[in-house]
Formats: sequence, structure tokens, C-alpha cells
Amino acid sequence: MTSLATSIGGRTFDNCMMNAAGIRCQNKKDLDALVASRAGAYVTKSATPQKRAGNPSPRMHTLPNKGSINSMGLPNNGLDYYLDYVVDDQHKRPDATNFLSVAGTSLEDNLAMLHQIQESEYHGFVELNLSCPNVPGKPQVGYDFDRVNEVLDEVFKFYTKPLGVKLPPYFDLVHFDQIAAILNQYPLTFVNSINSIGNALVVDPQTERVVIRPKGGFGGIGGASVKPTALANVRGLALRLKPEIAIVGTGGITTGVDVFEHILCGASMVQIGTQFGYEGTAIFDRLAEELKAIMNQKGYTNITEFRGKLKTFDD
Ligand code: DHB
Repeated sequence: MTSLATSIGGRTFDNCMMNAAGIRCQNKKDLDALVASRAGAYVTKSATPQKRAGNPSPRMHTLPNKGSINSMGLPNNGLDYYLDYVVDDQHKRPDATNFLSVAGTSLEDNLAMLHQIQESEYHGFVELNLSCPNVPGKPQVGYDFDRVNEVLDEVFKFYTKPLGVKLPPYFDLVHFDQIAAILNQYPLTFVNSINSIGNALVVDPQTERVVIRPKGGFGGIGGASVKPTALANVRGLALRLKPEIAIVGTGGITTGVDVFEHILCGASMVQIGTQFGYEGTAIFDRLAEELKAIMNQKGYTNITEFRGKLKTFDD
């Protein structure tokens, strides 16, 4: 029997695939569909303390070759909505672990939300999003290393439940060294890499105009074209993080082979954003069958047999 099961921080998941935050996870109906699907877990839309409408439309645009650009601006129903959902789900399915994403637009908001979660009965994972590129005037914390340190210092003064961070993509090996050195100082359960490649610009030559309204057209790129950047970040972090910190690989997954590559680079779990948006929950059936097929061809029966085992020309 080929198993797609995985474990992170002592919690087990029967499938190593799930949605990426923001995609089809904003309301109860979306989340119920994920629960009913073959995904191994779900993550909720990144929450702010209060409900937000987000940026004006058009704020997402489909790109050729399985891509997307977005500047949603954190539309969400507010932390209470998602915390109620995950706590209720925890009562219904006590053995399942899921991910609650929070993305305050200030340190104070993040600390207030984490205090509320700490005091609640929720005991699942929290994904602290340090990489939202789309709120005008609010730079991504993940690109300010001193600020990342400060946030985690404050958080771990009181937060004792399993926590991970969602990071932006990095593009220099020195930056991998620097972020890993900071993350390794904290009892993080996981690191999720990557968020969208932020502040890209897509131009429509026909209309001579940008394709999304917010921020003069600047937005985050997702989909197939970000896979090499995602794999580099998963691998770069896997080589540098202490083994207690699991890696959740996100970016550019459209096939079971893409999932296989993320796991080879060191991911324990993978998240699918853009392509899940296009296909809906049926994608988890397709990817599961495709990953099983490649594992069967290679004689692997579970993902730990190849996780992190990427070869280089130096091996
Ligand atoms: C949004 C986009 C992101 O990439 C993110 O991490 C959080 C929020 C958004 O625009 O809503």
C-alpha cells in the first residue's frame, strides 16, 4: 500500500496535500468543502482582528500557463469567524489537525490575535503570515529580518501552542542564511515557504493597461511559473533549519510530480494555491493519484523514503 501520510510536530495527516491560505477558504462553505475533500488538512483565509472588505476589484487576474496575479488586500471575515470554525471542527473531529492563518497588519494586531488564540480552546496549528504583499503602505515583515526577530521574540513570550510562519520567497543565499539563523532561535513547529512572488506587474498590451486595480497594478504572482523559486526556498530552508522545524512547501504545484519535487526538496506537507483555485477540491484526488503513480514507479511506499533526499552533482 502506498501511503501519502505525513506528520508535523507529532500530528499526523493522512494526505500531505492541502490548500494554500487565501484560496477557496474564506467562508464556512469553502472550508466545509475542504473538510469533505481528500485534502489532508485545510488552512483558513488569513485573518485580521476585524472583518475586512479588501482591495477594490479587479483584484485577481488569470495568467496564461496556469498562473495568477492578485492583490486581494486581505478580505476576510475577522478572527472570531475562523476561530469559531476551527474550534467547532475540533469538537466534531478531535483527531484532525488544521491550520488557522493570521495576518495582522501590525505587530499589535498579531499579538492581540495570538493572545486570543492562546486563551481559546483551539489546539491546532497557527500559521502566522509574515508575507502578505498586498496591503498598501504595509511592507512584508518577512523582508525585514530585525522585525521578524522582534515579532517572534514577542510572540514566544506567551504563545505555547504549535506555531509556524509563512514566508515570502528569498532570492539570495545570504538571505536564506539570515532568515534561518533567526527562525532557528525559536520553537517553531513549521515554516511555510513560499508566499506569492510579490509586487510583480502584468501589462495588457491590447488595452495598454495593467490587469488589476489595486496598487497601480502591482500584485503577487502564483502558479506554475513560481515553482523553481518555491523549490529553491524549500531546499534552501531545509538545508539550514533545525530538524524540529518542519517545512510546508507551497508554490507552483499543478501535478503530482510537482508535489514529489517539493518533498524531495524537503517539504513534509505541500499547499496548493492558484491551481486549487482553478480546479476546486477535485484537485486533491488528481494529485493524490498522480503522486501515488510516481511513487509506485520508483518503488516508494511512503514519503519519508524520499523527503529531503534531493541529489546534486556533488553527491
Ligand atoms: C493576501 C495575499 C497574500 O499573499 C497573503 O499572504 C495574505 C493576503 C491578500 O491580498 O489578501
